[in-house]
Amino acid sequence: MRTTILVTGGAGYIGAHIVLELLKAGYSVVVLDNFSNSSKQSILRVNRLAKKTATIVEGSISDRECLYKIFGAYEVSAVLHLAGLKAVGESSKEPLRYYQNNFSGTLVLCEAMDKFNIKNIVFSSSATVYGEPDKIPITECSQTGNTTNPYGTSKYMVERVLSDLCAADSGWSSVVLRYFNPVGAHKSGLIGEDPKGTPCNLVPYLLQVAVGKQTELKVYGNDYPTADGTGVRDYIHVVDLAKGHLMALKLIEDKAPFGIDVINLGTGRGYSVLEIIDAFQKETLQSIPFRYTDRRPGDIAACFADPEYAYKRLNWRAKLKLEDMVRDAWRWQSKNPNGYN
Ligand code: WQD
Repeated sequence: MRTTILVTGGAGYIGAHIVLELLKAGYSVVVLDNFSNSSKQSILRVNRLAKKTATIVEGSISDRECLYKIFGAYEVSAVLHLAGLKAVGESSKEPLRYYQNNFSGTLVLCEAMDKFNIKNIVFSSSATVYGEPDKIPITECSQTGNTTNPYGTSKYMVERVLSDLCAADSGWSSVVLRYFNPVGAHKSGLIGEDPKGTPCNLVPYLLQVAVGKQTELKVYGNDYPTADGTGVRDYIHVVDLAKGHLMALKLIEDKAPFGIDVINLGTGRGYSVLEIIDAFQKETLQSIPFRYTDRRPGDIAACFADPEYAYKRLNWRAKLKLEDMVRDAWRWQSKNPNGYN
């Protein structure tokens, strides 16, 4: 029987939290990561926390030979596919790199899986595929494809590939997980988000203000049609998100082959930028200087998930609260002001 799970991008922020949950649940894990935006340290710390060892392979999903070696050496039963570039702004400047990595890389991965008759994949997608939502909360049936940047388009394109693959071959099972806004860190404070350079996302930037690496937070717009005028998002604790992946694997174990399933991973509750700042200040007693600036191009007013299908299909719900998210994020940041370095 096959027992090993391959996690591509397993050393990254979300990947490391997933690998920890997998090891704790008794899975054997191989991590494939090229460390372009991650550190081997994350997995070494995960191994310490789990008191078990995930195997680390340094390499790329675009490297066929590397994939063949892994699939030849380990009895892989499913792939959790997280590897990819993820900076929205950068993707507009370097579209080819984004399509090459995220799209072409996934084609190579799927071809290699097919060759070794490994036909179970959980794909790390994004609420970005919904573009400007026609209504909120967003259900899995909401319109997709109206993406506003190459990053989002690359995720959408992979979703289409997986859908066609499952339609063409009934042996394939693919769970597409559309993440909302993952934040927070493992409660140990040993693993967390370690962005390279100046962070673009709200919580990583806010954390750098809190440790004095940035002077103030810019709040992008206070004239949105929301309760306090600032943007509203569905923030989800990364540990809840990781647990959602384990439930997706369980679905595969119980029900495969079933074709493609698309599932939102969010809490169903939206918070504004001001509510995030407020919760952070209350929970950590750190003060966050901020000022309002223009809206960030491409941002939408409000976005949050309808989480009911995830509950029905995966028997999974996000459990951790906003207070847990900001407290755990702060524990990680204050214990590791320079990330894994
Ligand atoms: C959240 C809110 C900003 C920074 C993006 C991607 C998505 C996913 C997560 C995946 C918005 C406001 C932000 C700041 C601010 N990426 N903000 N000041 O844009 O919802 O989603 O990240 O890898 O695909 O699109 O997340 O954290 O950037 O912004 O006021 O310095 O915070 O306007 O309302 P976003 P975010």
